[in-house]
Amino acid sequence: MAAKEPVGVFDSGVGGISVLGALRRELPGEDFLYYGDTANAPYGTKPAEQVMDCVQRVVRLMLGRGIKALVIACNTATAVAAARLRQELSIPVIGMEPALKPAHEMRRGGSILVLATPVTLRLPKFAALMEKYGEGAIPVPCPGLMELVEAERLDEAARCAAERIAGSGAEQVDAVVLGCTHYVFLRERLRRLLPETTALVDGNLGTARQLRRVLAERSLLNPAAQGRCELLTSGDEAAVLPVMRRLMSAWEKEMENCEEV
Ligand code: DGL
Repeated sequence: MAAKEPVGVFDSGVGGISVLGALRRELPGEDFLYYGDTANAPYGTKPAEQVMDCVQRVVRLMLGRGIKALVIACNTATAVAAARLRQELSIPVIGMEPALKPAHEMRRGGSILVLATPVTLRLPKFAALMEKYGEGAIPVPCPGLMELVEAERLDEAARCAAERIAGSGAEQVDAVVLGCTHYVFLRERLRRLLPETTALVDGNLGTARQLRRVLAERSLLNPAAQGRCELLTSGDEAAVLPVMRRLMSAWEKEMENCEEV
């Protein structure tokens, strides 16, 4: 029965583990198959056609394992490939975009900084988002930042993000959008580096709720009490899987102590 199949979740690396945390929290009965395309990371500084090829390979692999839905836990891969995947696949495809809409609603006349990869910020999907919710928004491309997160150099990554924020020249920053799933792991560190009045916004919970809605609509919710989770990588398993597990448990601890918005 399709409801018993896992949900496929993928990213260019460990970033999507932050999304997986939110998905497991929202849908504890589901099984998840997570794939980090570490061998081909980063996506965010590659030509879009190359990212498309990587995504197609990952999706073929996941479909071969039998998945009932696909979550693109990567803003970059969504911008490049979501429209095409929705045309080509018969299973539901849930994508991600920088959470500019909720950030726009929090704006109090200051700036909204959107931190994301160069590819995410360059493609038409983001231009369309800016058209609607871009008042006061400043795109801040962060090449090199995901690599620091992949290497678990989180303090350095947060300092680097804070420097980019300071370098944007914005005087009053009402919100910072974490528009790449890797950056969500910097949330607590950035919280300490930025003024209290600056909100930090990501799309993870919204994505989890969207997955719940889509599965419910298609009667695909798994009735099990406790789901399982399998982690895969195209990189060196011995090196990458422990990083994924550590980030997952750090994320879970952080969420225990935090009010979600
Ligand atoms: N985690 C990805 C995102 O959400 C991109 C990181 C990368 O591969 O550059 O955009």
